Amino acid sequence: MSAPRVVAVDGPAAAGKGTLARRLAAELGLPYLDTGLLYRAVGRRVLDRGGDPRDATTAAAEARALTAADLERKDLRTPEADMASSAVAVIPEVRAALLDWQRDFGRRHGAVMDGRDIGTVIFPDAPAKLFVTASPAARAKRRWLELQGKGVTRDLAEVEAEMAARDAQDAQRATAPMKPAPDAVVLDTTDLDAAAAFAAALDLVRARMPA
Ligand code: DC
Repeated sequence: MSAPRVVAVDGPAAAGKGTLARRLAAELGLPYLDTGLLYRAVGRRVLDRGGDPRDATTAAAEARALTAADLERKDLRTPEADMASSAVAVIPEVRAALLDWQRDFGRRHGAVMDGRDIGTVIFPDAPAKLFVTASPAARAKRRWLELQGKGVTRDLAEVEAEMAARDAQDAQRATAPMKPAPDAVVLDTTDLDAAAAFAAALDLVRARMPA
């Protein structure tokens, strides 16, 4: 089977993956999928039922019961949902329950997908792979500003500490840990604005995935 027209955009929290992936998708005329939303929605379902996001049986049942409506919820980006999503993402049965759906999405019409394991596990044969990162301080500042924009006042040091804990959990888990695929291009956005990051990413995609 020929390689899917998939652009994998992986990397840690608040590195600029979402903005970049959305712009790439619009430019390339491909569907966009934020795979983090799937884990966030599973975490949310577990919390709704008063469950523990680290409990494999509960989290896997919620992952299998996930519906499209769960992805439309407005409360998927709270600090509580951040930590719950990372906790359920450690559980192999949760990841297994979400795997086919992600692959089907990408295979159907091609896609730009952002997450942690797109280039390593979901689409190891994706022709174009980016690993988008930035310094912890720059990422924490971005997330802090984003929260401020939503009217949420948080302590910057607290935001940075929570982000570090989540990144460590995402990178150190045994199943599908966050890491650059061997053939990914690492894009450090610490000193790049969104326009410069987009230009660099588009160059790479055009080189790896001719129209
Ligand atoms: O991209 P995000 O911050 O919305 O992702 C939320 C959590 O979901 C993240 O901390 C880890 C998990 N995740 C994952 O394990 N694999 C993915 N492909 C996407 C997200």
